Amino acid sequence: MAEEKNFYIGTAVSSDPFLKDTDYKDILSKEFNSITIDNELKFARVHPQKETYNFQIPDLIIDYSKKNGMQVRGHSLVWHKQIPDWLTMQKYTRDELKEILKQHIYTVVDRYEETINVWDVVNEAYDENGILRHNIWRDTIGHEYIELAFIWAHQANPNAVLFYNDYDIEQINNKSNAIYEMYKRLLNKGIPVGGIGFQFHTSINVNLDYNSIEKNFKRFSDLGVKIHVTEMDVKIQNNKDALQNKLAKQSEVYSNILNLCLENENCNSFTTWGFTDKYSWIPAYTGNDDSPLLFTNEYVRKPSYNALYKDLE
Ligand code: G3I
Repeated sequence: MAEEKNFYIGTAVSSDPFLKDTDYKDILSKEFNSITIDNELKFARVHPQKETYNFQIPDLIIDYSKKNGMQVRGHSLVWHKQIPDWLTMQKYTRDELKEILKQHIYTVVDRYEETINVWDVVNEAYDENGILRHNIWRDTIGHEYIELAFIWAHQANPNAVLFYNDYDIEQINNKSNAIYEMYKRLLNKGIPVGGIGFQFHTSINVNLDYNSIEKNFKRFSDLGVKIHVTEMDVKIQNNKDALQNKLAKQSEVYSNILNLCLENENCNSFTTWGFTDKYSWIPAYTGNDDSPLLFTNEYVRKPSYNALYKDLE
């Protein structure tokens, strides 16, 4: 259904269930036409030693995606988390770290030149005040690590659409303002940034300002960049309402965001961070049970699934 409109409905994929759980794998290709690998393309996983790359699992997942005609969103080339010890345990000079990052980007992007046309190049570089985070990249290379990463990714695959991806930037606020200014700067300088990823990790307890989200989407699309919803999930924990009501509220949130995306002509991809509650990152991260996704632990479709399905129809 989504393909007919050139629209991508995606999910993050975890390697463990992908390799071990056949129900998971069946639903994946049946219900989605886009995937994001949740961890295996991150620096520490794909490039665990200075001279060693580990492409085995990404290759398997990407082959599967291609056989099933799915888009693959590459995630992610530059982040301050999930970086390997060999990078953090030793002090590199600016030139050395630039060379390491350049070769990393060239190697990973080049390997998937035929199969990955969308990359999250830089992930979560700004803090909540809109200040560029201190991390190994900024502190050693300087602020320009961001534009260098986009330039190198573009050199490795000129056909890929390159994204900056972040959380808590869905509405107009200090953080999204800073990132908007960054986009204007990068675009003015001719840096090949082609899209922005809004993660949408949210909760039914948050009162999203849909008007602000719509305006925010619009200001970025007016710059000419693509808009992707990249990691959506909606927590229901810490709320005393009846389960049925919580799931109904959750389905409304999903539906509202999908509709805002569908209404913006530059928004063509909507991804949830997993699809079954069984493997969501939320319970481990928050320490609480939850049900943030589209299918139950037993793979029963939830109201959130039904709402999205109806909207797409
Ligand atoms: O694979 C090991 C396992 O061998 C070990 O026994 C276990 C013990 O802790 O850890 C396992 O690794 C964990 C990995 O997920 C796989 O489950 C890591 O500890 C854990 O830190 C890692 O969390 C990932 C997280 O990024 C890291 O910050 C989540 O799975 C992943 O979903 C999450 O994804 C991020 C996006 O990339 C960026 N936006 C936010 C999003 C959610 O945090």
